Amino acid sequence: MLLTLPHLLTPDDVLAARRLLANAPWTDGRASAGEQAVRVKNNEQLPHDCDAAGHIRAMVLRGLDNSPTFFSAALPKRVFTPRVNRYGGDSNFYGKHIDNAVRSLPNGQRVRTDISCTVFLNDPADYEGGELTVADTYGEQTVKLPAGHAVLYPGTSLHQVKPVTRGQRIACFFWVESMVRSDEQRRLLLELDMNLLALRQQRGESDETTALTGVYHNLLRMWADT
Ligand code: NI
Repeated sequence: MLLTLPHLLTPDDVLAARRLLANAPWTDGRASAGEQAVRVKNNEQLPHDCDAAGHIRAMVLRGLDNSPTFFSAALPKRVFTPRVNRYGGDSNFYGKHIDNAVRSLPNGQRVRTDISCTVFLNDPADYEGGELTVADTYGEQTVKLPAGHAVLYPGTSLHQVKPVTRGQRIACFFWVESMVRSDEQRRLLLELDMNLLALRQQRGESDETTALTGVYHNLLRMWADT
């Protein structure tokens, strides 16, 4: 399931990120790539411990906390530390790859990368190329979103960032380990949840919405690993 989260960051967040990034210390992005990925990766990243990365990370995590759609779609158990990357100049693409299945946090805790997320930090008009393409069951999807918008896609999918041929593409990305490992099950839960929300808004609470909410929670109880 590929899902867009519009306005995950506020316009103020985006402005603040731009100011923080003005003098940021970019480094070679290949340092964090796996064995296969490193052969096709050519971008830059912010070191985890720099000021700009810390502020942007906090901003993105706050955005996730404030997004009911993120919670409903991802059913997060753990979020891997968000990173900031940049594509442009000589470091301008990330060829087709699948992300490593398991990542380790600094405290040694492991995170299974069920869901990948990209938060766009600048606007499509700022650069040419740089599309994220994600292979899914309906064919290849192309994603290029306004600043502050985010996309979620399954960690299992082959994806790439196409070469940036003008300007710079700046984004924040991270992975989520979900309480519900299966993309198919997460999709069913999201559909049920979103339609229940719409039904309640249209007609208020009824015996049927109460019963279906029970079904939602019982499915989640059956599938969730907390
Ligand atoms: Ni990737």
